[in-house]
This record gives sequence, C-alpha cells and structure tokens, in this order.
Amino acid sequence: MNEQIQQNAEKRKRVFSAIKPTGNPTLGNYLGAMKYWGDMGKTCDALFAVADLHAITVAIEPKELRENSKRLFALLIAVGIDPERDTVFMQSHVTAHAELSWLLNNYTMFGEASRMTQFKDKSKKAPDNINVGLFDYPVLMAADILLYQADIVPVGEDQLQHVELCRTIANRFNNRYSPTFTVPVGKIPTYGARIHSLSDPTAKMGKSEGEGDGTIFILDTPDVIMRKFKRAVTDCDTKVKAGKDKAGITNLLTIYAAVNDITIEKAESEFESSSYAEFKTRVGEATVEALRPVREKYEKLRSDDNALCELMKAGASKAAYIARKTLEKVYKKIGFVRV
Ligand code: TRP
Repeated sequence: MNEQIQQNAEKRKRVFSAIKPTGNPTLGNYLGAMKYWGDMGKTCDALFAVADLHAITVAIEPKELRENSKRLFALLIAVGIDPERDTVFMQSHVTAHAELSWLLNNYTMFGEASRMTQFKDKSKKAPDNINVGLFDYPVLMAADILLYQADIVPVGEDQLQHVELCRTIANRFNNRYSPTFTVPVGKIPTYGARIHSLSDPTAKMGKSEGEGDGTIFILDTPDVIMRKFKRAVTDCDTKVKAGKDKAGITNLLTIYAAVNDITIEKAESEFESSSYAEFKTRVGEATVEALRPVREKYEKLRSDDNALCELMKAGASKAAYIARKTLEKVYKKIGFVRV
C-alpha cells in the first residue's frame, strides 16, 4: 500500500502553462484551455502563470496591462485552479524568469529565433514595432518552462514551435554542462474545443474588444450572451446538423457539446426537431449557465483587492522557491561566482 502511494507520487508529472494578459478572455479561451486547467491539479503537479512579461512585446497601455493582469489572475482561480493545491502566479513577480531568460539568450541561436513563425507574423502586423522583446519572446517562454522542470506543457498549436525551441535550448544546455533541465513535451490538449466567431464562423473567436457580437467574453452578462447567440450566423438550411457547408451550426453545436461535456452527435440528437431560433436560444442558455459560476466566483475575488494581492504573493512565493533552485544550479554550472 505504502509502496503504491510512493509509486504514484513518483509518477506525478509536472505541468506548466501560461496565458498572456492581452485582450479580454473569451469563451474560446475557456472551452479551448482554461476550463480544463482546473482539473490538471487533480492528477499532476500543476503550475500556471499570467505571462505579463510577454504582454509588453506589443504596445499596451499601462492601465490595460494592470487591469488585464488582475482580471486574468482572478479568472484562473475562478475557472477552478486551486491556489492551495496548485501554483498560480504572476510571471513578473518571480524575477527568476527575467534572469534565466537572459542566461538562455546565450544558448539560443539567432537563426533559430529568426525562424519562429509568430515572430514573422507579428513583425508583419506591426512593422513599426519590431522590437527585440518580440524576437526574444520564445526564450522568455523557455525560461518559464525550464525553471519549473516541467514535463508537460499544454499549449495551443501556434505555440508548439516555441516549445520545440525550448527543447532545443534545454538539450543544448544539458549537453554543454550536465543534465540540468527536464526536457519538456508540448501537448495540444485533445479535450479542448476550437470555437469560432459567432458572426464569422470561418474565423477564430477573437480576443480583442472590438470583435463585436461574434465574440462571447467569459465575463459577459447573461443578457449580452443571449443577444450575441440570437444574432449568430447560421445558414439557409434548416437542420441542426454539423457539416462542411454549415460552419455556423457546427460551431454552435461544438459550443453546446463543450459546455455540457457531451459529444456533437448527442447534441445533434437533442435538436433533431428544433428550429434554428430555438436551437440558438438553447445554446445561449447553456453557455450562460456554464459561465455563471465562473463569473460569480470572479466577482467575489475582484471585490477584495487586498485578498487578491495576497493570493498573488502566496503564489509567487511558492513558484519562486522552485524557480530559485533551478536558477542557482544554472548560475553555478555556467561558472558564476555565487556567494
Ligand atoms: N506564449 C504563450 C501564448 O501566447 C503564453 C506563454 C508564455 C506560455 N509562457 C509560456 C505558454 C510558457 C506555455 C508555457 O499562448
């Protein structure tokens, strides 16, 4: 029995992920990732960060960064991450991230960083702000992951290339000195649903405030959610069935299935004899109910700024303890004098 417990403890994997405080988190963020983060701590040793240092690689107003950061931190707890069981913190509160990132710069090749698709895309989008931070972004991300010796890094598809670079850097360092970093595996979660815009179901549900009625924000009020669903784009057929030329209905079915934790087929069978109007109302209602507890918990957390700050401090101190251990090893191996 004891042996069994010990074995389980040994097998417990460490999971790390982070999310940037840019924009306003959407139903897409929720159903694609955040909804499942709360469960990871049940089977894994889970750490989550608000990647605020990453948020300044594109222009952002101070007020916006501040508000977005607090909102996202509170939301992570509201969706089910347990600050006692798990570790949840602000990246900038643990200075080891910036420190390791500088060190890792020297084990990252210019050519490797230049090949990052996201860097190329973002450079094209903002040609007057191609700053060094934008270029260095994946190295900071590697530091985030490697500090905690993470085994698994759940990310969206667009971030896999960055995790690959992180593996390259870790292997290079381990080979140059001696095994120091756990080489992590990037994983696109199989559970997450990909949600599209309600007004343009061929496009991803966007995070920026200006997306209009196509985007449901996690913190939207029930009446706003209902209004957006009622205006959702469908098609000129009448059947509530997923399918190729039915991007709008497929998207709504995906949402309904994800918020109720059922399959698309099951969702389809529930609406066999429903009109589109009826169907849209039901998807709206189901979404309202799924988000209600999250919004309520969020509002409670935001009603006491001091308590929220205390949670941030506690998270940062747990994270810093682990991060420091790794960072000290790295300094020593490179040959820095430590006193
Ligand atoms: N770059 C990630 C994103 O945009 C966020 C992030 C920052 C991250 N550091 C990380 C994700 C470390 C995983 C691990 O989604």
